[in-house]
Amino acid sequence: MLQLSTLIPAPVTVEDELCALTERLPVAALTERFRQDELLVLRDFVPARLLADMVAETRRLMPSARRSYLPLVRKGGAISHPTIQRAAPALHAFQASTALRETFQRIADGPVLEARKQDDPHASAIYTYTRPGDHIGWHYDDCGCEAQAAYSIILGLVDRSSSLLELVTFKKTPGKTPVRRLVRVEPGTLLFFCGSNVWHRVTPLGRDEERATFSFVYVKQNSHPHGWDKVQLEAINTLLYFGPRALFKRQPDR
Ligand SMILES: [Fe+2]
Repeated sequence: MLQLSTLIPAPVTVEDELCALTERLPVAALTERFRQDELLVLRDFVPARLLADMVAETRRLMPSARRSYLPLVRKGGAISHPTIQRAAPALHAFQASTALRETFQRIADGPVLEARKQDDPHASAIYTYTRPGDHIGWHYDDCGCEAQAAYSIILGLVDRSSSLLELVTFKKTPGKTPVRRLVRVEPGTLLFFCGSNVWHRVTPLGRDEERATFSFVYVKQNSHPHGWDKVQLEAINTLLYFGPRALFKRQPDR
């Protein structure tokens, strides 16, 4: 007798999709381009069906983003990792993906990379820009780690805006002329760079515009921030992004 289970295909997980995607990537060519440019901008990186799930999760969570404003530093909203873990399964699976991390580790062609620990309240975030003037000022993503130890991923989710991600590569490289790049981070576009190397900002949002990105880092093995670095990082994140609740791990945004 035919078993019903033989008729029902196993569900395709996000990790299955990312395994298939990363197997198709021209990793050697991307490694060379990353070495030459200090930056990868990968348009239409996420397959359409998975991207639709991620955008729907983001749209559901955007109204609950915690807003903050620090003049010249940042104005905008953020949705913290505990909320993403609880309410955004596709985005959470993307951040936790082994296939994705191993692929970018090969592309970085340097240290063994790890995802932030899942009990780290800053392991990932959705950043939202919904009011005129929302922006992020110039900064590096050193993430409390030593130089060259943290690699940033930024994924576009919503972009009905004139805002651009402005980046300067080779700013710290002796003998190299810095290169300025302006990138529109459309839904599905992924950026990858070493956070301590690439100076970057998000230009101010215009009127009646909206924008959201998903961001997380891979860190060099055993270089997760700890001690005083961790205290400082949590204080900065609390001030800039998530509010005091983020200090109490695993408490989702309300
Ligand atoms: Fe950044």
